[in-house]
Amino acid sequence: MKCNVTEIAPAVYRISTFHPEYGLQFNQFLIADDEPFLMHTGFRRMFSITREGVAAVLDPASVRWIGFSHFESDECGALNDWLKVAPQSQAVCSFVGATVSVNDFADRPARALNDDEALEIGRHRLRFLSTPHVPHGWDAGLFFEESDRTLFCSDLFFHPGDPEPSIESGVVERAAEAIIAGLTGPMPKDMPYTYYTDQTLRRLAALGPRTLATMHGSSFRGASREALFDLAKTLRETLGKPEIGF
Ligand SMILES: [Fe+2]
Ligand SMILES: [Fe+2]
Repeated sequence: MKCNVTEIAPAVYRISTFHPEYGLQFNQFLIADDEPFLMHTGFRRMFSITREGVAAVLDPASVRWIGFSHFESDECGALNDWLKVAPQSQAVCSFVGATVSVNDFADRPARALNDDEALEIGRHRLRFLSTPHVPHGWDAGLFFEESDRTLFCSDLFFHPGDPEPSIESGVVERAAEAIIAGLTGPMPKDMPYTYYTDQTLRRLAALGPRTLATMHGSSFRGASREALFDLAKTLRETLGKPEIGF
């Protein structure tokens, strides 16, 4: 496997690795700044590929922050490898994530962020949003880069295959197709529709993102506010009807 590195927003690099067995891209994002920020580490077994992608932009040893949404291997499986290779680096995640999983798993403690807390990394400032159960997991959170308004949205807008790095239309259609296909696939019900889902997606839309940096599939640059509203509608219509009987 090899990765492709593309600048999707000013100083924001998408490091994309297509995994043929999963039929999916695993995308990491790197913000090149005074304190370089890596969003997701990817799988532990993909560490050398991801490191190669980071090295195409900056010295991997200079990575300062390792952010992710929720505790899963594609989000933070290579965290300890990064903590070794980048001596000043530290995980940054939700308070729940740090408390429940990361501070036991990781070789160094994480910096736990509260909802709406800002992380300054130089010219860029990241806003942390606590988003329990969106896309999934009690510990879930997302990061929003405020200057160019990039939302690092983890598994939201998931779509399979090895598509182009960035698109300007059609992301909701792809995500909707994947959500419907996922209902009957081998790993169903990955995304819950809960009391929190709609209000969380509305809150993300209100940020007015310009770019949606998706973990699996193309990034989207365009009418992201509308895309988030449309995703909420899709989830509501697809998953929002409680099953009768169980
Ligand atoms: Fe996930
Ligand atoms: Fe993921």
